[in-house]
Amino acid sequence: MRTIEWNNGTITLIDQTLLPGEYKIIECKTVSSLCEAIVSLRIRGAPALGAAGGYGVALAAHTSAHTTTATTSTPTTAINTTSFERFMRDLHAAAETIKQTRPTAINLAWGVDRVIAAVRESGTSRIDEAREIALCEAVAIAEEDVQRNKRLSKHGAALFEDGDTVLTHCNAGRLACVDVGTAIGVIRAAVEAGKEISVVSCETRPLNQGSRITTWELMQDEIPVTLIADSAAGSMMREGLIDRVIVGADRITRDAVFNKIGTYTHSVLAKEHDIPFYVAAPISTFDPARLEHDVVIEERDPDELRRINGVMLAPAGAVVYNPAFDATPVENVTAVITEEGVMYPAQPDWWSRIPTS
Ligand code: MRU
Repeated sequence: MRTIEWNNGTITLIDQTLLPGEYKIIECKTVSSLCEAIVSLRIRGAPALGAAGGYGVALAAHTSAHTTTATTSTPTTAINTTSFERFMRDLHAAAETIKQTRPTAINLAWGVDRVIAAVRESGTSRIDEAREIALCEAVAIAEEDVQRNKRLSKHGAALFEDGDTVLTHCNAGRLACVDVGTAIGVIRAAVEAGKEISVVSCETRPLNQGSRITTWELMQDEIPVTLIADSAAGSMMREGLIDRVIVGADRITRDAVFNKIGTYTHSVLAKEHDIPFYVAAPISTFDPARLEHDVVIEERDPDELRRINGVMLAPAGAVVYNPAFDATPVENVTAVITEEGVMYPAQPDWWSRIPTS
């Protein structure tokens, strides 16, 4: 199944916290259960969060207790109008709650806002119609994600050469999206084009998306992959064992790429060793309204560093700093691979090539 889907009034998703030990599908029947799934990273990865945001608003529309609808045969009464307004208030409240779960990936807020806008711009005052519009828009977001990633993957595959060893960080694969993936989608498309590619997957401490999810995904696809500790990347680059780096992104401003903590370190190392550093992300990840310093970086529970499965890794009460993401200045990025083509931040007009809608 896809990473996230809509099934008869519920959201179903693959619980990524259990991988690779267990492949389990869970159901979210309420907005609060979806929010729990987002905060605990059962669903994660920027494009997948975009779909989760869209489906979350659709779920709010379907579970809202307000059902009274104005009809042409019923005179427009205060009661009917108020009922639709209350329904819309439910939608806006759910939208804000969902957006606050994770602040860094722009796709989450983008997915939420897109569904709210579709309902508002339809001009309907019928709750049943609003429900259908919300669901249609959420489904469209999910469908578009799959198609965009296919296009993006083909553009990126052309940058790879037969025999390349490619380092990636975190998971920007099909499980980070509705399907296909961004960085891993590019690698898969290069393999499908007949190139021999092997992957080096950084474990991505503290939550190990690289070892748990990327390594698992690539092994499922029978793409050669070697798992390394995050701290092994530098010496491997120095020894000439890495030809390219490719990562996904949670948000791209004019001056920086936000991605999983550790990405910046890889970019500096790649620059030092003259290794191309690619970012693969759909246009929905771009944020024209902000610069690096306007973006909130999510800080996560200190216990993610202090313990693992109940085993203490640090003294209880150890002071911890646990940012989930970092910012890589665009100067360190060789190319940004999108569904509209490959953009090169070194070109002075690179930002003007980003479609604004
Ligand atoms: O905390 P996560 O697992 O949601 O972080 C995910 C990443 O940093 C990914 O690299 C990013 O979302 C791009 S996914 C195509």
